[in-house]
Amino acid sequence: MSRNKVVIVGSTNVDKFINVTRFPKPGETLHIDQAQREFGGGKGANQAIAAGRLEAETTFVTKVGKEGNADFIIEDFKEASINTEYILTADNEETGQAFITVSEDGQNTILVYGGANMTLSAKDVMAAEQPITEADFVVAQLEIPIKAIEQAFKIAKANGVTTVLNPAPAIDLPKSLLALTDIIIPNETEAELLSGISITNQDNMKETVEYFFKLGISTILITLGEQGTYYATENESNIVPAYKVEAIDTTAAGDTFIGAFVSQLNKDLSNLEQAIQFANQASSLTVQRQGAQAAIPTRDEVINVYK
Ligand code: ATP
Ligand code: RIB
Repeated sequence: MSRNKVVIVGSTNVDKFINVTRFPKPGETLHIDQAQREFGGGKGANQAIAAGRLEAETTFVTKVGKEGNADFIIEDFKEASINTEYILTADNEETGQAFITVSEDGQNTILVYGGANMTLSAKDVMAAEQPITEADFVVAQLEIPIKAIEQAFKIAKANGVTTVLNPAPAIDLPKSLLALTDIIIPNETEAELLSGISITNQDNMKETVEYFFKLGISTILITLGEQGTYYATENESNIVPAYKVEAIDTTAAGDTFIGAFVSQLNKDLSNLEQAIQFANQASSLTVQRQGAQAAIPTRDEVINVYK
């Protein structure tokens, strides 16, 4: 089987996790039963781990601090067979951090300190020109500077490589970045922030998709949590339903979806719906486990559950 070549450009965070029965109200103090735990995280790193565990030939371009907080995450990258040659070290910033609180019903709140991630420059990305030009897909999210993403996408577009943007977390974006995007994968909140259209039914989804088509984006996937994933191209659109499972922590559901999707998708997008179905399967396993990277399944796990 030939494996997809995927380059992920994005963030690495140490996730600091706390479990609560419910979220405190402003000004309220609550007791918790378990001390804070640390996991590997960051949207870029999670997507790289997902692509690697799901057997894409994966290169990850990221920046961490020199204090060594990300060392355990880099070991996990190696275990997932990720090319770590383009993991850079910032001189004056620590590895990014995310402070994640998960409630008993599986909801989360996340605060992110960008740290070294925010020093990843266009020049740093230029160093990864070779793997980008040789890739099938280049994927980015929004926890690094926009200029770094634009550089990666410019190299990709100049070499016929398909660009995939996960516009997360939700922030306003320059149209210049959207103009370099072939496939966009927002969740409902992110789609609404970019398009100004609130998604409550299939008609709104079609309007949202039209908004992205007009910007030149040809393939749109909107992830809908436990509802699954809506997709649209010029020729087809459909909802691929999610799997019914008991979600205990949805952190990195979207990241698993994206890593899984690009690990499966044919370069000519001819198996779009099957790739989405596989990505729904992989992320249904992630939501049944705690943590970000700790929860992301291997290809064998997905195949064993959904054979
Ligand atoms: P997160 O920010 O929590 O990582 P997201 O908001 O980016 O996630 P979602 O739309 O919540 O992304 O989820 C991505 C995919 O994960 C969905 O399309 C679906 O396939 C799967 N998924 C998410 N939540 C559930 C759930 N409760 N049960 C089954 N599958 C789920
Ligand atoms: O998408 C989940 C990720 O968002 C977490 O791992 C956390 O680091 C935040 O960046």
